[in-house]
Amino acid sequence: MTESQAANITFHRPHVSRQDKERLLGQKGMLLWFTGMSAAGKSTIAHALESELFSRGRMTVVLDGDNVRHGLNKDLGFSKADREENIRRISEVAKLFVENGLIVMTAFISPYLADRDRVRSYMGGDFVEIYVKCPMEELERRDPKGIYKKARAGAIDDFTGITAPYEEPPCPELTLDTSLMPVRECVKGLMNYLDSHYNRADMVKL
Ligand code: ADX
Repeated sequence: MTESQAANITFHRPHVSRQDKERLLGQKGMLLWFTGMSAAGKSTIAHALESELFSRGRMTVVLDGDNVRHGLNKDLGFSKADREENIRRISEVAKLFVENGLIVMTAFISPYLADRDRVRSYMGGDFVEIYVKCPMEELERRDPKGIYKKARAGAIDDFTGITAPYEEPPCPELTLDTSLMPVRECVKGLMNYLDSHYNRADMVKL
């Protein structure tokens, strides 16, 4: 879109505000951003947490790399620029949900610090970064999709952890090492985090 096209677009103010929707749902909209290498457990933990939150009456949505790359982002590959665009689009989608009161969980490798920090500042206080950590040997041992084996054989370009970098978060709100903790422990850690940070005024039902 050109500058002059953008000048002809104005924001429409909703009649029902974010606060109205948060009151209706009895929760605070937020983005739980899971980052980590392929097979570290991001999606598994996000879905397990979603089940736990659902059982407590929370309205959530999970966006994950493998699914979103089949639809919205199917035109993107794994170059640095494409990953940046992948994360940019996800953050826009996540923001739409968060502004409507939902608890959003995203599970993307999101290997670049700068891309994640951009989302953090875009989301203001609604962003919680969760580093799903796992040593390379364990990832290669798991290799549920056989993708590390393929990458080692040179069949996949720009593969995170092998031929492309993963920049560890220097200060995530939470780190979960899935080589040391089973999924249910990770979910417990997340619930404790949410209880202690959001159980006061705005998350009455948690
Ligand atoms: S991200 O880096 O742009 O955040 P994203 O999470 O969307 O990545 O997608 C990662 C998934 O794509 C992996 O779980 C893996 O199954 C698949 N994949 C295919 N090619 C690559 C690659 N070159 N590097 C990493 N993951 C890849």
